[in-house]
Amino acid sequence: MTTPRVLHTAADLKAAIAEALAAKGGAAKNGALSLGLVPTMGALHQGHRALMDAARAENDVVVASVFVNPLQFNDPQDLDRYPRTLEADLQLLGDAGVDLVFAPDEAEVYPGGAPLVRISAGELGSRYEGASRPGHFDGVLTVVAKLLHYASPTASPTASPTASPTAAPPGPVRYRAYFGQKDAQQLALIRRMAADLSFNAEIVGVAVVRAPDGLAESSRNIFLDPEHRRAATVLSRALFFLAEQVSAGAPPDLAAAIALVGEEPLVELDYFDIVDPWTLQPLDTVERPLEKPALALLAARVGPVRLIDNLPLEPAAAAG
Ligand code: PAF
Repeated sequence: MTTPRVLHTAADLKAAIAEALAAKGGAAKNGALSLGLVPTMGALHQGHRALMDAARAENDVVVASVFVNPLQFNDPQDLDRYPRTLEADLQLLGDAGVDLVFAPDEAEVYPGGAPLVRISAGELGSRYEGASRPGHFDGVLTVVAKLLHYASPTASPTASPTASPTAAPPGPVRYRAYFGQKDAQQLALIRRMAADLSFNAEIVGVAVVRAPDGLAESSRNIFLDPEHRRAATVLSRALFFLAEQVSAGAPPDLAAAIALVGEEPLVELDYFDIVDPWTLQPLDTVERPLEKPALALLAARVGPVRLIDNLPLEPAAAAG
């Protein structure tokens, strides 16, 4: 395990990135230097580990950020309750070979308090997860925009008292940022933000990581007791039921998948739709085989916990 270097200010992060890239110099992966950023709110689990592994495999320098972003919480109690486990997180990040960890405090990210100007997630941010959490995705996009700026390897490093005198500004550097497919709506919005607002980072989605019982990895799973955990597995069963139909060339029977979830009394479905993976617009699939890839998307309350999950639906022709 390597111990990642922890930076608490944006200026120190910029200097450390320039230094790390300069140190890689000629040993660049695939000919050009590259930097991978993995934004997180900490409380890391195997789903995050998959993001780190993807970033590590593709980039010369890997930066993870750990920042619990108050702007994306609607309920102040939720924000207080959010687990803060930096020591354990650093262990996982070290094991994953992450080079630099950016762990700012709130005053570093929002020096003037909550920002007046924010990025609007628009209509796409008001559906599904956004319907029950007004402003949530504006908060996510605003902090992701800031994190993408802080870690951008193509901006010149800000002077810092801790910068090494040998740190040289890097030449052209490929810049990627990694997000979990588990938060499908967040990923779709971040992709749109990067495209619509001309960010210089490529946005990479990383597949959902599932436990052996099929449950998607989430920091909320620790709040499920054994009975609710067993009940929650109906969600992935319903998703895989649809995926099997689609890969066999049959129309996805969403009503039957919803009925399957309904058989589990401990699970209360919030939404379950088949959508376009980029726009999250619902698709009319009634008795219609899919012609292009789609996404089955759901959210449900299982006892004290609200869970989200999704699965790509690949029609046989599109998959080939
Ligand atoms: O997915 C998360 O953990 C957060 O929403 C993110 C992208 C780190 C922004 O705070």
